[in-house]
This record gives sequence, structure tokens and C-alpha cells, in this order.
Amino acid sequence: MKKKITIIGAGNVGATAAHWAMSRRLGDVVLLDVMEGVPQGKALDLWQAGPLDGFSGRVVGSNDYADTAGSDVVIITAGLARKPGMSRDDLLAKNVAIVKACAESAVRFSPDCFMIVVTNPIDAMVHTAFKVSGLPRHRIIGMAGVLDSARYRTFLAEAIGVAPCDVNALVMGIHGDNMLPLIRLANVGGVPVTDLLSPEKIAEIVKRTQLGGIEIVNHLKTGSAFYTPGLAAVEMAEAVLTDSRRVMACAAYLDGEFGISGYFLGVPVVLGEKGVERIIEFNLTSEERAALEQSVQAVAGQMAATGL
Ligand code: 2OP
Repeated sequence: MKKKITIIGAGNVGATAAHWAMSRRLGDVVLLDVMEGVPQGKALDLWQAGPLDGFSGRVVGSNDYADTAGSDVVIITAGLARKPGMSRDDLLAKNVAIVKACAESAVRFSPDCFMIVVTNPIDAMVHTAFKVSGLPRHRIIGMAGVLDSARYRTFLAEAIGVAPCDVNALVMGIHGDNMLPLIRLANVGGVPVTDLLSPEKIAEIVKRTQLGGIEIVNHLKTGSAFYTPGLAAVEMAEAVLTDSRRVMACAAYLDGEFGISGYFLGVPVVLGEKGVERIIEFNLTSEERAALEQSVQAVAGQMAATGL
């Protein structure tokens, strides 16, 4: 049975996610936006790449949630993006209303969907969607850790001179300046990066990872990253749709894991047909736990600001 993926928001991230979803043969895609013509035009353009890329799935653009009915996966990308000088928190007031509307409408037509929220500030936005959608916690996650870990792996690979795909590294916590790129566990083919790079170089890479988003915003001036965010969301969707049980850093709802309850935060998650099959817990050092606690405080502040 062919899978159905709905992507809400036909901006840079949503349209790029649609591209990656078609190219990865995930299934049929509905690209939905409130803007007349934008989803329709981008979907029509993307569909016509089928003969060249080899996909046979259908991608359509729509302004009507009825067209999203029966989606297996819903990816919410709609919302304002940062501009230079803005923090992700600055987007909160506007985006909480947008994400609420998207999540409520999507789940009305796809009550059994798996939901991936990309809109920033992601840890609060996925919590917002969780609250209004009524989805169980294993069927809703936020996309952030996959993106942050990809940046971390890319910078480490460049410094060490190896293929980025052979660098294993995990970023936990909030998708913000207090995110936690774990140094202790980062490795190249099993070899710790601490044996391959100086502490100063590693610290520089950790900092660049934490500021990876704003580095791109400052180049673009009018928006934020979209190629890797779009693919990150599609990789998460693919893991669920193919029941691959891949381990990815996702913003998942914690109910006691890592000693945290009641918030979404980036943690290692096993993704399969059920959605969040399992959160992989492990022992943290006292420094790591303190850093994660900073994430909790920051997310708690965001949630207080949503008023939910
Ligand atoms: C980023 O880090 C947009 O939050 C996203 O690029």
C-alpha cells in the first residue's frame, strides 16, 4: 500500500522536504500551504522531475486539508523563519498560533498519522502540536537533533579529514544555543574524536555547531537553512514508514527519561512503524547533566511563553 506524506508549509523547508521525499520514493506527497498557487506550482514543477529522477509517486499542491486525508506522516514546516539578529525564541508568539492551527487541521483528517514538527522554536512547537492534536507521545516528534548532529558530524569530518558519513556524533537537548553536542561519545569508525583533535579544536567545533543555524541566517539574510532541515525530516519519516528502527536524535516527549518529565527535548530515539519505539537512555557525566538541565530551563521558559 503506497504511503501518503503531507508536508504543511510550501516554503523553502517544506518544498525541499517534498523534493527529498519524492527522490527517496517515500510515497505520494501532498504539499499544503495557505498561499494560493505556491504549493500547486512547486508540486507541479517537482512532479515533472519524475522522468529524470526515476520516481513514480504523485506530488500535488493544495490549500485544502481535505486533500491530506489518510496521511501516514504529517510534517509541519509552516511558520516564520529567523532573520539576522533574531533568536528562535523571537518566532514563538507568531508560530505557536500557526502550529496549533496546522496540527488541529491535520489530525482532523489523519487521526492515525505520525507527526514531525520542524517549525521553530521546535521544542515548544512540537509540544504545542502534542497538546492540541491529542496524538500519543510515541506518534509525534520534533526535528532538530538530526540537523544539529549532521552539522556537528560535518565539522568534525572536515577537521579530521574523513568522510562525514563515518563520523558518529550526537547532539542532545534544546534546539538552541544551549544544545549539547556530546564530545565524549563522538567517534570516527569507533575511534574517539578526543584522540584525533585537540580540546581547543573540538571546543571550536562545538561552538560552531551550536551557532550553525544563525551562521546560515546571516549569509541568507532573508531566511534560514532548508536543505538539511528538509532532508532530516524526511529521514525521520522514512525510518517510521519503513520500520527501519534507525537511531536518531529527535525532540521526544520525556516522561522520566534522563530524569526529565513533561517536556520535549532532543534525545536518541529508535524510530520504527510504531513511531518512537524507544528512547535510548545512557549515563551522563555531571557536566552533561548540568548542560541538559540548562536545556530544560530554556524549554520550560518557552512553554511558559506559549501560554499552553
Ligand atoms: C536551523 O538551525 C532553521 O532552526 C533551523 O537552521
